[in-house]
Amino acid sequence: EVQRKRFIGGNWKSNNTLAKSLELVDSVVNKLEFDNLDVVVSPVSLHIVPVQQAIKNNVQVALQNIGHKGYGAFTGELSFEHVKDLKINWVILGHSERRRTPEISESEEFIANKATLAINNGLSVIFCIGETIQEMEAKETQAVLEKQLNPLIAQVKDWSKVVIAYEPVWAIGTGKTATPEYAEEIHANIRKLLPDQSIRILYGGSVTKDNAAVLIGQPNIDGFLVGGASLKEDFIHIVNACK
Ligand code: G3P
Repeated sequence: EVQRKRFIGGNWKSNNTLAKSLELVDSVVNKLEFDNLDVVVSPVSLHIVPVQQAIKNNVQVALQNIGHKGYGAFTGELSFEHVKDLKINWVILGHSERRRTPEISESEEFIANKATLAINNGLSVIFCIGETIQEMEAKETQAVLEKQLNPLIAQVKDWSKVVIAYEPVWAIGTGKTATPEYAEEIHANIRKLLPDQSIRILYGGSVTKDNAAVLIGQPNIDGFLVGGASLKEDFIHIVNACK
């Protein structure tokens, strides 16, 4: 059986002043003790360098988005070169807050292209997918997930640089966590689509210190992408539940 190293990401989204982010590093991130896990936190891009410098343990940082080209005349974009230059190894892509916010509306192809460019240039990607409540009720979950994953599967060669985060949109920030049974079923279905059994599949959506242990007990759940609970001490308990 394939052993997959567990992965816990803290997605801080667009929260915190710089002072707050640094306080969070002191009070939570630097308190984490682990080996044989990947733990990554993702502050807003403006904070990423001071946060990275303040981290004293083996926690890594991730950018929350990346531009669609390399260096060049692309006002407002951050490229893989900028990220590599600062020794940042991870980027989150395809979060539903970027796919599904009407003013942003990143398409499946656009996200998969950005992910492929990042991977081909040595970065690792946390690739988020997930269905809305309407899609779930219409029994379209699997079709939606395939539509989001297929353009990635068509392009990526080096799957060691990919972590999939399954985040049902209805569970994000709502307190409505997927049941362990539902999450396990979806993760198992996602795994069937992937070319390699060693690819980690994370669950995201209202993960808390109270539900982390039962979720991580599911055979196809390899870790978490945590939003709200990563902004407080609860994140320590979530990481500890995965040890
Ligand atoms: O990326 C993680 C996120 O979308 C989940 O957020 O606040 O429900 O844990 P939250």
